[in-house]
Order: sequence, then structure tokens, then C-alpha cells
Amino acid sequence: MNQKAHHLKTARRAAIAPFIAMDVKREATLMEQAGGTIVHMEVGEPSAPPPRRVREAALAALGGQPVGYTDALGLMSLRERIARHYQETYGVAVDPARVAATTGSSGGFVMAFLALFDPGARVAIQNPGYPAYRNIFGALGLEAVDLPVDCSNGFAVTAAAVEAADEARKLDGLLLMSPANPTGAMQSADSLREIAAVCDRRGIWFISDEIYHGLTYDRPAQTAAAFTDRAIIVNSFSKYYCMTGWRIGWLVVPPELPRVIERLQQSLAISAPTLSQIAAQAAFDANDELEAVKAGYRRNRDLLLDGLPALGLDELAPADGAFYLYADVSRFTDDSTRFCRDLLHRAGIAATPGVDFDPHRGSRALRLSYAGAEADMIEALKRLKDFLRR
Ligand SMILES: Cc1ncc(COP(=O)(O)O)c(C=O)c1O
Repeated sequence: MNQKAHHLKTARRAAIAPFIAMDVKREATLMEQAGGTIVHMEVGEPSAPPPRRVREAALAALGGQPVGYTDALGLMSLRERIARHYQETYGVAVDPARVAATTGSSGGFVMAFLALFDPGARVAIQNPGYPAYRNIFGALGLEAVDLPVDCSNGFAVTAAAVEAADEARKLDGLLLMSPANPTGAMQSADSLREIAAVCDRRGIWFISDEIYHGLTYDRPAQTAAAFTDRAIIVNSFSKYYCMTGWRIGWLVVPPELPRVIERLQQSLAISAPTLSQIAAQAAFDANDELEAVKAGYRRNRDLLLDGLPALGLDELAPADGAFYLYADVSRFTDDSTRFCRDLLHRAGIAATPGVDFDPHRGSRALRLSYAGAEADMIEALKRLKDFLRR
């Protein structure tokens, strides 16, 4: 054995925190392989297959011709189709030259952050928020600046809060999602407009994560691209389009950035998965099928909103969109990690502890994804009732 190996040190970023929801998923899968029956509510993952048109497009592309790399920014036909989606959905003109296909929105974040921020840059995020933001920042040496959201502000970020954070200490960026994970809360169109204006005026990069667009239950979401062409829009085929495993997403960037993203992507990914790019083009024409899937989420949401309060889970974030319920569990625990472990092992429900989304207050919260089947929601309510009664 090479003794010197003992002295090898990993990078500081090797201390990256786990994405706890994914750790819970791994553990739940192991339990299933050992014969357990688990209700999966830990990861935001549609249980429906991708739309028929998407599957047909993928199968046709497997007819024998090579599946090679595409241009680094993606197939022009996909970029054009994405641009058309902005016109059709929001009435906003987007030049296809500003669109880049990425390996999920996750790949898009890395490209965008590398393009915009040097180590030490300060980027504001919602808290509670999507765990990977904080973890990617840690890996890239960026500082997360928390913008706390709770019932006092309707779980939404205000332009005043962004201004105050920038005033306290200069921000380099703001990364905002609406609908949000884990709360489901949405920003109003007015607040997005005001936030875009504050970012433009103060020289703050505005990154708008719009991955849950399409999954709204009362009013449609507005894109930040409607208010400024300075924002970086991040989106994905994972959620509304039911394509998590296809690893395909996109960016819309300001006019001076496509070449920067292209150079980064050339060397970091070469290109997004080609088969997924081809298939994804068909997703925009599958609204009928996708709206039927969404109607199922709405039923799941209604079932849980109806059933959870009677079990003592009556403090819930708004759930205007996406497919999550973020519940206060302080009545039962101040250690959400342990609570979720017990829930998994004793009741067979995989759920994500709030600490994944909010390192402090999250010890008294829990996130349930309702992207699964209706039968799973009914089973979850039954199991939760037995579990909480003990
Ligand atoms: C807010 C948010 N952004 C981005 C992602 C990443 O999705 P993907 O990389 O599959 O596009 C997720 C996944 O849960 C999410 O909740």
C-alpha cells in the first residue's frame, strides 16, 4: 500500500452537503428491493410517463442513424421550438439565439453560475428553498444570502427585501423560483416586475428558475422574460413535461451570454443528451396529455389538503403551484430528520425533512411531494394516521 496516499487531501468542496431528498430516495429504494412497500413522497418526480409524442419521437430517432453530439447550445430546431413556446405561452418574443439546451435545469445552473459569478460572489435565495442551490454554491465557492419567507410575507420575496439585502451588503445575484420548492408559493406578476426592475437598477444578476411553470392551480405563472431581457431564465422538461430522467432543460440568456454559455458547455458537457433534445421538441405539443396529468396532481393536492389537517398537520405553506406540501411538524418533533427516518422505517412513507430546505427552521418541517399516484396519497394518509397516533 502506498503510505503517501494517507496524506492526500480532497478539495474543500468535498464537504458538499448531501441533497437529503436524494439520500432518502436511495434508502427507500433499498427497502423496496428488500421487499418493503414504500409510498414515495420524497422527490419531486412525476409518476406518469412522458407524453406519447415524446416517446414516439425518441423511438423514431433510434431507427439506426447515429445519435451523435449536437452543437454545444443544442439542436437549432429545439431552440426555435423553445423560443416559440415563449410566444405561445406568455406572448413574449425570444430570439432562439438566446436559448441554450442543458442537461436538466441542474446543468443550466452550473453553466449560468460559472458564467456570471466569481468565487466569493453573493447570491440571494429564498429560505426555505431548493437544497441544490445552496449545495452548488458551496461547490463553486459562492455565498448564499438568505431571504427568509414565511407566512408573514405569504412565502414570497418582495422587491423591498431584495433591495434591503443589497443595501446591507452588495449582492451579485438573485436566484428566485416561482412556483417555489418546497412551499409551492408563487410570486405575483407585479412583484416579479418590481424585482426585475430592482435587479436592473442595482446591477444584480436576476436568475429566474421557472421549472414549475405549467404546474399552477389558480393563476398562471409569469416569466421574468416578460419584464426584462437581462434576466437568465432557467427551465426544464423534468416537471410539467414528466421527463426527469431524460436530463434535459434550457436557459434563456441576455444577448451577450450565449457565446459564453457555448464555450462553457463545449468543455463541460459538449452538448445536452441528443435523444432527449429530439424527444423534448414534441413535449410542447402534448398539452392535452400533460393537463390530464396535472388534473391528477390537483386531485392529490385536494386529498391531502383535506386529510392532513385532521391528522394535526394543519400549518401548510400556500401550495399555489408545483407538487409539494410543506408542513409544520413542531407539534410532533423538533428533529425532522429523525421524524422522517421513523416515518420511512415504521410507516413506509418516504418524505423529506425540512432541514434539506431550511437548515435551521426546517428541523420543525416536512415536505411531501404529491406528484405520485392518487392511490399513493390515500395510502399515505392511512399510514400517516396510524403513525401519528402512536
Ligand atoms: C426548484 C428546482 N429547480 C431545479 C430542479 C432540478 O431539476 P432538473 O435538473 O431535473 O431540471 C428542481 C428539482 O427538483 C427544483 O425543484
